[in-house]
Amino acid sequence: MNLVLLGLPGAGKGTQAKKVADKYLLPHIATGDIFRKEIRDETQLGKIAKEYIDSGKLVPDEITINIVKKRLQQDDCQHGFIMDGFPRTLHQAQVLNKMLSSLGRELDLAIYLDVEEELVIRRITGRRVCEDCGAAYHVEFNPPKVAGVCDRCGGHLTHRSDDQEDTVRKRIEINKDKIDKISSYYQKNGVLEVVHSVGGIKQVFKRITEIIEERRVK
Ligand code: AP5
Ligand code: MG
Ligand code: ZN
Repeated sequence: MNLVLLGLPGAGKGTQAKKVADKYLLPHIATGDIFRKEIRDETQLGKIAKEYIDSGKLVPDEITINIVKKRLQQDDCQHGFIMDGFPRTLHQAQVLNKMLSSLGRELDLAIYLDVEEELVIRRITGRRVCEDCGAAYHVEFNPPKVAGVCDRCGGHLTHRSDDQEDTVRKRIEINKDKIDKISSYYQKNGVLEVVHSVGGIKQVFKRITEIIEERRVK
């Protein structure tokens, strides 16, 4: 099953992608998480990515596409994946299709997590993320069992450097039109499903799994 999750910052892509990955035993490919790891490791790529990310801009396509290309070649991706945060431009979506078809594969499903802008601001300002595994929590909507500690791996929970309200608003503005273009592209390809990403994490997950089961993608 080759799957992508689309949505504005704070739509719940990372939260839901992790749950889908656990349930269907798929590798979770999150370009944002990959960049944040490079930043923590203080690599050359991390230095470049940090400037774009902290100012709320997209990392240039050629850098991001290269990372995804390499990731898709790894063994664990040969039977499927769930992507979160990629594609983010129409060009990335078109290149992903080409990458998959060159491997004799195709995208099975693109789920667009639709959510109101004001709600994403609340979600992001209350978010805490695990430094080690990238899991997201929310002080009000999804608190960890022990404050400041990741339930999954015991890692330390922090704020993301790009989660300041003005940067979040900029991220939303930059992403809005691009998501519309990608959605139209996937709609034409017959792989788009829209899920309203409100009503709690479990409920959204239920909607997603229903779609996956209905499509009987493997
Ligand atoms: P990325 O890390 O992908 O960030 P994003 O798209 O801005 O999305 P977020 O991670 O902020 O939100 P999310 O949808 O994952 O929400 P979450 O599940 O955490 O990218 C960061 C940056 O990297 C980009 O700005 C860009 O610079 C660069 N980048 C990455 N990919 C790129 C690409 N392909 N091309 C170019 N540049 C790229 O949920 C948010 C909060 O809400 C959490 O606290 C969660 O607990 C809570 N929550 C989730 N669902 C619910 C619910 N249903 N009810 C209540 N609370 C909920
Ligand atoms: Mg995320
Ligand atoms: Zn963790």
